[in-house]
Amino acid sequence: GTAQIGVTGLAVMGRNLARNFARNGLTVAVHNRTYGRTESLVEEFGGEGAFIAAKSAEEFVASLERPRRLVVMVQAGAATDAVIEEFVPLLEPGDVIIDGGNAHFADTRRRESELRKHWIHFVGVGISGGEEGALRGPSIMPGGPAESYKSLGPLLERIAAKAPDGTPCVSHVGPDGAGHFVKMVHNGIEYADMQLIAEAYHLLRDVAGYSPAKIAETFRGWNAGRLDSYLMEITAEVLAHTDAATGKPFVDVVADRAEQKGTGRWTVQTALDLGVPVSGIAEAVFARSLSGHPALRETAAHLPGPGAEPLDEAAAARFAERVEQALYASKIVSYTQGFHQIRAGGEAYGWKVDLAAVAALWRAGCIIRAAFLDRIRSAYAARPNLVSLLADPGFADEIGAAQGGWRDVVAEAARRGVPTPGFSAALAYYDALRAPRLPAALTQGQRDYFGAHTYRRTDREGSFHTLWGGDRTEVAG
Ligand code: 6PG
Repeated sequence: GTAQIGVTGLAVMGRNLARNFARNGLTVAVHNRTYGRTESLVEEFGGEGAFIAAKSAEEFVASLERPRRLVVMVQAGAATDAVIEEFVPLLEPGDVIIDGGNAHFADTRRRESELRKHWIHFVGVGISGGEEGALRGPSIMPGGPAESYKSLGPLLERIAAKAPDGTPCVSHVGPDGAGHFVKMVHNGIEYADMQLIAEAYHLLRDVAGYSPAKIAETFRGWNAGRLDSYLMEITAEVLAHTDAATGKPFVDVVADRAEQKGTGRWTVQTALDLGVPVSGIAEAVFARSLSGHPALRETAAHLPGPGAEPLDEAAAARFAERVEQALYASKIVSYTQGFHQIRAGGEAYGWKVDLAAVAALWRAGCIIRAAFLDRIRSAYAARPNLVSLLADPGFADEIGAAQGGWRDVVAEAARRGVPTPGFSAALAYYDALRAPRLPAALTQGQRDYFGAHTYRRTDREGSFHTLWGGDRTEVAG
């Protein structure tokens, strides 16, 4: 065969990825379960580059140069397993199957270890940037055997987004499930970013009394500063949009029930297992679920709240500035939590994930792309063993400078009854980490009291138990 790469599964993501490869000068074999899609891809976009349309799995495999590299772009889950099962008998040792779907990293680990028995390289690749990204340059997070990356990497570099300094947004993240793990955390951070922006909007609307158009303008201003990001940019677009049918702000005619496909939930489930406090990301997932319970909300709709007048214009403007600080500080916390989770995942699964490289490949192409990510990259590049982003002097200074405004916003939100689960959880995380003593000492006392679960002391090594039911002497635990 002569195709350098093949794409099977030609729904919109697969189709756009195949076109991206072809537009960048590669010969691309394309295949779909039903041939119609393959045919229409080549009919519509054949002029963009060199495609080889394969009618069958056999034809597809035969059209690929060796070692074969085939990208699977089907639905995560059973469909991926079915495709792998179909192709494995047609492949040879050294061939590479690339799963570009939003797979759970645990599935990727399982598939990688099974295929290794057949000497087939399985590369689980996180791809971010939606349909546009797939076509014009996504952020790409490949996991799997380092060896396979040698031949695959240069092809991925061609189609990846380019960071502002020109570097392609792709690098080998680590073995087996590392790429999908990092993509999962990307999505968790995406949820948190979205929730924090939503809270900022809610506060500007209900406390400052701003219209959606005015909030769009405010966000555009923020987007020119340290909050510069794709999500900030598109939020302003959404807020400025007017519904054609009613003439109302678009945001006022959309049902306020947020949906989710599951990657944010996976982030939190995994974090719970790893014991990593991703409270900001968790609140973002819960905020979506809460919004999706209309009956529950209905029963609470008549419960009393504080009731307060909107701020006057000057006070509103001052408040808006503090909301910017709260948003920025909370964003630092979400990324701190997300990167902590990647580090913890790496330790648990034996991956050596380079956190500076992860931040680097999120600088462009993906949904959370932002100027901010280059700062995170340099923080980890300067100190690869940085325990937490909050330990970076630059971020520490910034969060310290923002904390006054951040507290005012959370307090004002509580006084006025505007929910800010993201801002509040982030602030609680910040304060808990700062605290010289945590009430966890009391938790340990309670556990020892009711369950003889023992505790450690601040002044001596060892574990201890107090005879609570007896004379309350302390014994070795
Ligand atoms: C991306 C996105 C992409 C998708 C999310 C949406 O990185 O390109 O994250 O993967 O848009 O899965 O997730 P929800 O449907 O759960 O909001």
